[in-house]
Amino acid sequence: MSTMHRLGILLSGRGSNFIAIADSVAAGRIPNAEISVVISNKADAPGLAAASARNLTALAIEANGRKRAEHDAAIVAALREHRVDLVCLAGYMRLLSPSFIQAFPQRILNIHPSLLPAFPGLDAQHQAFEYGIKIAGCTVHFVDEQLDHGVIVLQRAIPVEESDDAQTLSARILEQEHIAYTEAIKRVLSGEYVIEGRRFRKR
Ligand code: GAR
Repeated sequence: MSTMHRLGILLSGRGSNFIAIADSVAAGRIPNAEISVVISNKADAPGLAAASARNLTALAIEANGRKRAEHDAAIVAALREHRVDLVCLAGYMRLLSPSFIQAFPQRILNIHPSLLPAFPGLDAQHQAFEYGIKIAGCTVHFVDEQLDHGVIVLQRAIPVEESDDAQTLSARILEQEHIAYTEAIKRVLSGEYVIEGRRFRKR
């Protein structure tokens, strides 16, 4: 019997990427995986309520004025308690401290709504739209100690249409995000890859 992979999801808001992952897990599109815990730094995040509604373990771990390293240590402790082996950031709007990243080496994924390395940081879709890009997209990457920087697992691209505004473009990028995250998790959990420098490729 193959071992179950235990996912930990971190989110700060709406949680549509979390919901897409949860739907994929429930439908068997991510084989041998379960969501062990969903954690938010915001107690009122709609994504956290969605996790509770699905009868998943949903924890609010707020910073409450604590230093980043201390807050992160509490999150790492919760992830370990739930024996998480892959952490998925899904709209988690806080930088991770080095000790968090070192606690899960090449085991933290993030999704970002641009074709990195273009438009890291906040509001990437608006930045990209205002810049006048013609091809938009999203990136799933491993998290390292630089913002929106780690090894890229996959990207999905879409053309910007003449009729787009920043909102319609964001919505179409989001559709791609939902497809991309499931695919990226599947690839990583398969273990059938090598990382050479910055290159992630099938083994
Ligand atoms: C998503 O578009 C995600 O790519 C982005 O936040 C949104 C969260 O939406 N993340 C970042 O910008 C990280 N730098 P969701 O809560 O509906 O998944």
